[in-house]
Amino acid sequence: MSIVITGASGKLGNLIIDQLLQHVPANRIVACVRRVETGKHFEERGISVRICDYDQPDSLEQAFAGASRLLLISSPHHDDTIRLRQHAQVIESAKRSKVGHFLYTSFAFPENGTAPLSHLHLATEHGIRTTGIPYTFLRNGLFMDFVGTLDLNAAIANGKLNVYPGDWKFNSVTRLDLATAIAAVLSGHGHENKIYELTAPAAWTFRELAAALSDLAGKPISLCQDSQIQNWIYSFLSQIDTSSTSGDLKQLLGRPVSTLKESIKPFIAI
Ligand SMILES: NC(=O)c1ccc[n+]([C@@H]2O[C@H](COP(=O)([O-])OP(=O)(O)OC[C@H]3O[C@@H](n4cnc5c(N)ncnc54)[C@H](OP(=O)(O)O)[C@@H]3O)[C@@H](O)[C@H]2O)c1
Repeated sequence: MSIVITGASGKLGNLIIDQLLQHVPANRIVACVRRVETGKHFEERGISVRICDYDQPDSLEQAFAGASRLLLISSPHHDDTIRLRQHAQVIESAKRSKVGHFLYTSFAFPENGTAPLSHLHLATEHGIRTTGIPYTFLRNGLFMDFVGTLDLNAAIANGKLNVYPGDWKFNSVTRLDLATAIAAVLSGHGHENKIYELTAPAAWTFRELAAALSDLAGKPISLCQDSQIQNWIYSFLSQIDTSSTSGDLKQLLGRPVSTLKESIKPFIAI
């Protein structure tokens, strides 16, 4: 019974495999990578490595052979139309390989989004359903990394967090929390044909972000709304649902989700 994971060499893939090793022996895990050299550290830990490139359909069926569970980590390609083709190739190959259970890292609350990526994730979910293979959709919330675009270190230096005006709310979470929950699902039972919205259980605001920054910096940081801000992130954020929340992540973790203060620490230099 093998658990096959695509995108294993990426940031999320590595974290999922680290967590999975706490639940299952290394010889049950297959790490799929595009290039042999990015799989060396898995082999050293007793994990099988197979070559899998979403753009090379011939590589996929072999990579997925014997998979009782296959985790497709969504492609990072910047063009969602190309991502759709890549995912379709994975889906077709999974069907031909007779994968037992298909798990997919989707995006949280995609029905509420208008961004191309919302359509891509919904289309991939539908594609997976066409195979008839039992599925689990792990709808990841916005990675906490987006705070990296908000100039948090400048906010600390100036005592002022500048943000674009609006009623912004964020359900974002750390990759590590997501990886821990996904590993629990991959190694657990009873998750067939389920959809999990892996978000924070309560959404936070920019005011709460300023308060968390103040705590970490040990000095007051005020919130300043500025409609002159030029930052691509706001147009992206306005096209996805960052405010809806769910208790699914907390439940799968079996512990509280990381706090805002803990989660932003890696993005500030203190
Ligand atoms: N929820 C969010 O906020 C959010 C934000 C950003 C991204 N995402 C999605 O989450 C996914 C995982 O995130 P991450 O941080 O782990 O991304 P990442 O570090 O960029 O990892 C992406 C992985 O996909 C692999 N890959 C790229 N093109 C491929 C192809 N043609 N065939 C097979 N594998 C391919 C990469 O392999 P190489 O090592 O060979 O490049 C790498 O292992 C991303 O791919 C993206 O779809 C979600």
